[in-house]
Amino acid sequence: MAVLAIDAGTTGVTALVVGEDGHIDSRGYQEFEQRFPEPGWVEHAPDDIWRATLAACRTALARASTTVRCVGLTNQRETAVLWNAATLDAPRHAIVWQDRRSSGICARLRDEGHEARVTELTGLRLDPYFTGTKLTWLAEHDPEAWAAKDLAIGTVDSYLVARLTGGARHVTDPSNASRTLLYDIHAGAWSPELCDLFGVPIDALPEVVPNYGELARTDPDHFLGLDLPISGMAGDQQAALFGQTCFEVGDVKCTYGTGSFVLVNTGHEAVGSDAGLLTTVAWQEPSGELTYALEGAIFVTGAAVQWLRDGLGLIGTAAESEELARSVPDAGGVVFVPALTGLGAPHWDPDARGTITGLTRGTTKAHLARATLDAIAYEVRDIVATMSEEVTVLKADGGGSSNDLLMQVQADQLGIPVERPVVQETTALGAAFLAGLGAGVWSTREELKHTWQLDKRFEPGPRDERAYDDWLRAVSRARGWAAR
Ligand code: G3P
Repeated sequence: MAVLAIDAGTTGVTALVVGEDGHIDSRGYQEFEQRFPEPGWVEHAPDDIWRATLAACRTALARASTTVRCVGLTNQRETAVLWNAATLDAPRHAIVWQDRRSSGICARLRDEGHEARVTELTGLRLDPYFTGTKLTWLAEHDPEAWAAKDLAIGTVDSYLVARLTGGARHVTDPSNASRTLLYDIHAGAWSPELCDLFGVPIDALPEVVPNYGELARTDPDHFLGLDLPISGMAGDQQAALFGQTCFEVGDVKCTYGTGSFVLVNTGHEAVGSDAGLLTTVAWQEPSGELTYALEGAIFVTGAAVQWLRDGLGLIGTAAESEELARSVPDAGGVVFVPALTGLGAPHWDPDARGTITGLTRGTTKAHLARATLDAIAYEVRDIVATMSEEVTVLKADGGGSSNDLLMQVQADQLGIPVERPVVQETTALGAAFLAGLGAGVWSTREELKHTWQLDKRFEPGPRDERAYDDWLRAVSRARGWAAR
């Protein structure tokens, strides 16, 4: 008996068949096209995401050695998707979380004095990262799509549930809803006041259902001939928190992907932050009880390594960055602030730009590779430093966590151990756990904890505080460039 977990990420869709003991039985993966119609804009064709989902699931299921009993779903969050509720066709491309086109709308709403109220209700801030102002942009710039008949508005999770169920269900969950700027995280419901502020018709939004339980059912005519319960769903970072079994208050994880996202479980209390962290819903029980998290969102980390590869041609593969960085004892005074799409937490500066300082004639590409890994560790340190909870261990996952040097530098910088599990695809694993709980594959969180296995623990060693001071100076130089 197993769970099919679908992780619809930013650059591709992963499907895993996860066995009862938490091991990965089989996997499938399908990339889809990234569209950059203008500088700072990022779009996806919803149909591409759906086709990639079908392809990834087909592969995983064909390779599976066990029977799948239910489906779990996790997804890139905040991306705004429009589709026709009757035909399921999308009238236009989705606006992706990385897209900065609504920064003018954010500034306008801030000038009008709305930010404090928005933060009070949502735990978020007025930044183009979130769904709300992307929808305002659509209403103002694409009136034809916005006024289309049978319009459904949602995020990637709700779009995929519509596809998987052949249009029978229009649902989302609180972890995704809490990233839209439209959801009151204290009331646990869409906010009519915020929908009004952002100009979003509340009736076109999905119904918000708990993170596990009987949520929907796949339609065999639309989804590979399968009639299965969709019994778990969550936004990818919250799913990773669940997959790392961070069930206790104060448990922290960091997922190292395109960006990196640090989340700490704060229990049933929605803890606010003056230090640039976001308050967000982690998950909701079928009873309605909400668990919250504080989140530090860093937009560009793995993407900085990709830039070394694709932008500068310094390395052939992302994995080579570790070998190259290891060939030097340190970054030789070089500091790289990878603010390639502005800075997220804790600075929130869309006008910051990538900055490299400390270059000399002795600088080599190895120093730059090392400075890139250092930067990722510094950024995570900056976030953990703002968390009032006492953090005693960081659980790491995602593609970047396979880099031993990065993990060691991270432990050194944080001054606490970093633990990496055997299964590093924790996002999909979290979706599998939720779905498995929802369908009775597992019945308690204790059982899930027993499936979590340590791969390697990195103990903190000495850290160079002068180099960290250089980092802080370089960050202040990176800020505000686009606004000048
Ligand atoms: O908030 C954005 C987050 O959901 C990123 O997703 O696909 O880059 O892991 P991904």
